[in-house]
Amino acid sequence: MTTDKNPVPSTANKDRVVIFDTTLRDGEQSPGATMTHEEKLEIAGLLDEMGVDIIEAGFPIASEGDFRAVREIAERSRDAVICGLARANLKDIDRCWEAVRHAARPRIHTFIGTSPLHRAIPGLSQNEMAERIHETVTHARNLCDNVQWSPMDATRTEWDYLARVVEIAIKAGATTINIPDTVGYTAPVESAELIRRLIAEVPGAENVVFATHCHNDLGMATANALAAVAGGARQIECTINGLGERAGNTALEEVVMALKVRGDIMPYYTGIDSTKIMHISRRVATVSGFAVQYNKAIVGKNAFAHESGIHQDGMLKNAETFEIMRPEDVGLSATNIVMGKHSGRAALRSKLRDLGFELGENQLNDLFVRFKELADRKKEIYDEDLIALVTAGEDAARDRLVIRSLRVVCGTERPAEAELVMTIDGVEKTAHETGDGPVDATFRAVRKLHPNDAHLSLYQVSAVTEGTDAQATVSVRLEEDGNIATGQSADTDTVVASARAYVNALNRLLVRRARTGEDTREISYKDVS
Ligand code: KIV
Ligand code: ZN
Repeated sequence: MTTDKNPVPSTANKDRVVIFDTTLRDGEQSPGATMTHEEKLEIAGLLDEMGVDIIEAGFPIASEGDFRAVREIAERSRDAVICGLARANLKDIDRCWEAVRHAARPRIHTFIGTSPLHRAIPGLSQNEMAERIHETVTHARNLCDNVQWSPMDATRTEWDYLARVVEIAIKAGATTINIPDTVGYTAPVESAELIRRLIAEVPGAENVVFATHCHNDLGMATANALAAVAGGARQIECTINGLGERAGNTALEEVVMALKVRGDIMPYYTGIDSTKIMHISRRVATVSGFAVQYNKAIVGKNAFAHESGIHQDGMLKNAETFEIMRPEDVGLSATNIVMGKHSGRAALRSKLRDLGFELGENQLNDLFVRFKELADRKKEIYDEDLIALVTAGEDAARDRLVIRSLRVVCGTERPAEAELVMTIDGVEKTAHETGDGPVDATFRAVRKLHPNDAHLSLYQVSAVTEGTDAQATVSVRLEEDGNIATGQSADTDTVVASARAYVNALNRLLVRRARTGEDTREISYKDVS
């Protein structure tokens, strides 16, 4: 593996593609994907560890919470450049610098919508906007020597105007020019040509790095990003699992593995340690509440599963028959050693290590108890079961609402009933409710004990492994006063998993409420003031 640890974009090294991850900004911005402060710090740490060159940690002016997160990520950063987003005004840029300047390698990323539709929003003429770009990029560059500038909706901007404003940004001191396909409109031939032409025709283009930032509305984000690289871009902006607004952004795992597997026709390389991909993918899915689709390239549950007889036969004879990359290359263990009720603490610790979880002694003890409980109910415990157990137990220590017991009666004869015992701030309370099915009865019981107006915007159940004793993973998303919280839980009993996921989401809302205003976005990144 190549370990080029030089994250500063360089025009000298022609084959090195810089990976700019925006999971914590463009990804987190997607409705419902909000992460807590601690989760953002954890994901940033994992991105840094896997070799991401630039982490776009947030949009500091958007809220106090965003500012704190970017600042703390900057303070803790190791190798990665830490970048913050700012609109094209001095106040945004100053706030952004305040947050990122604590990083060893800070970057300011400032942008403005340059297409006719976007120019109409602030009502600026072409000349007025050009002036604004000059003024704001100059200001950013006076604060920081690493400045990225983006003409938002570049792919729908008139060529002449795009070339003109790119030149202005370069002259004002931008070191990276990012070309966003904001609405996922472009196609590979056009994506490559646009970058090629900008590099060939804009004066000064040879002194900056061109970046590509694609959205996936037409399912072409990965193809467009790779085409842009063929056209001369040397920075790809992407997110883990392709998280992002609408259909999402270019998926980091897809571009990294495409460059790795098809180096024969795309002779470029990244500094990413691909064996860390699966772990971070699972963590992002858990903390964002956006489950990865089963057949998603690289990180989907079925991406390396070979179920048909012909495939299995071929795989047994020679894995390369149907596999273009090895599961180990993306951090999937080659053998899924099944754990069971006789497995000890040391085996559990070692298995968790293989899966990328390093637990402290107390966490391990707690998990071991829950692992044994599960093993009593379920004969074989797979990797996915363990991952579900680890992630389900993470918040327990700080929870104000805790389920103590749940009994449900349901069937065809009468309405379902739930008897729930919960502690709320340590005080035990009991509720008995009926409902339209066991989950409804249980959720009503929770609401009786903890009255709230949170709107249930997502309730999703999926089986972690196969069989009738499989654990069900339940995701619940709640919305209250502009705050969104996602809860998850897994159990062999779907109703128990549902109750825990619901209570988990309520606990997260309580944390958000306590930090008044922190996660309420007052400003949209699309408003240009
Ligand atoms: O999609 C987009 O245009 C963006 C910009 C802010 C770079 O995310
Ligand atoms: Zn975007």
